[in-house]
Amino acid sequence: MSTKSIVIIGATSAIAHGVAKLYARDHARFALVARNAANLEVVAQDLRARGAEHVSTFIADLKDVARHDEIVAYAVRDLGTMDVVILAHGLLKEQHEIDNNADATLDVFEVNANSMISLAHRFGCALERQGSGSLVGLSSVAGERGRRALYAYGAAKSAVTAFLSGMRGRYLPLGINVLTVKPGPVDTPMTKGRTLPLMATVDTVAKDIANAIEKRKHVLYTPGIWRIVMVVMRAIPEGIFQRLKI
Ligand SMILES: NC(=O)c1ccc[n+]([C@@H]2O[C@H](COP(=O)([O-])OP(=O)(O)OC[C@H]3O[C@@H](n4cnc5c(N)ncnc54)[C@H](OP(=O)(O)O)[C@@H]3O)[C@@H](O)[C@H]2O)c1
Repeated sequence: MSTKSIVIIGATSAIAHGVAKLYARDHARFALVARNAANLEVVAQDLRARGAEHVSTFIADLKDVARHDEIVAYAVRDLGTMDVVILAHGLLKEQHEIDNNADATLDVFEVNANSMISLAHRFGCALERQGSGSLVGLSSVAGERGRRALYAYGAAKSAVTAFLSGMRGRYLPLGINVLTVKPGPVDTPMTKGRTLPLMATVDTVAKDIANAIEKRKHVLYTPGIWRIVMVVMRAIPEGIFQRLKI
């Protein structure tokens, strides 16, 4: 991998940190944005120790969309040209946790959809101004179909997937790649204490993501088995799908 200038939004995410470690080895330059200052400093120190040439940090609650222009301005000021922008923040709530709470449902949308889309839009425009780069959005296989067990989170990820697909069409002719990452369950703090099928490690998913960035792929299912699982999932007629009670 060549040395890159990388912006990571939600940089304390376990998956984002896993990807960053791979680029740090190649002396990448990082602008990191996250909400928790202490945790972000741990990530920043780790990346410096692994060989990162430059690491700066910016603290923000990403639900605060009023600060998103400030975040883009910080990244441009700090890195100059941005080779890769990774949008990784997210909030998982299983449906039973929010079944009777409309505000918590909207909160899931604020973090996973509104905030992600706002940042994707603003960074897309910034990449267009510089005329190059890759935008990477962490969506999920949960966005492929609304399931009884996870439909608020799934609907938010579905919105992100559709938005990034449209952005890809807009930016491809300009030489800017938009990569949609759809992980299955990954062993991170987000899934701690939950029983989920085919749980992957951060290392596996991080390698897949870095590889997809380098190859300028458009959509990544990770691990790859999820591409096949989702072909089947999407093909199930709605009446049968509801009887599966998943
Ligand atoms: N793990 C999985 O199974 C899985 C599967 C499919 C997709 N994904 C997606 O992959 C991405 C990374 O997930 P992960 O597994 O690495 O989870 P993680 O380690 O729990 O990281 C989630 C990150 O989102 C940040 N975040 C949440 N709300 C925020 C807010 N309002 N402002 C700023 N930061 C906020 C958290 O920051 P704090 O530490 O401050 O809370 C944390 O750094 C997410 O978009 C997730 O939806 C994960």
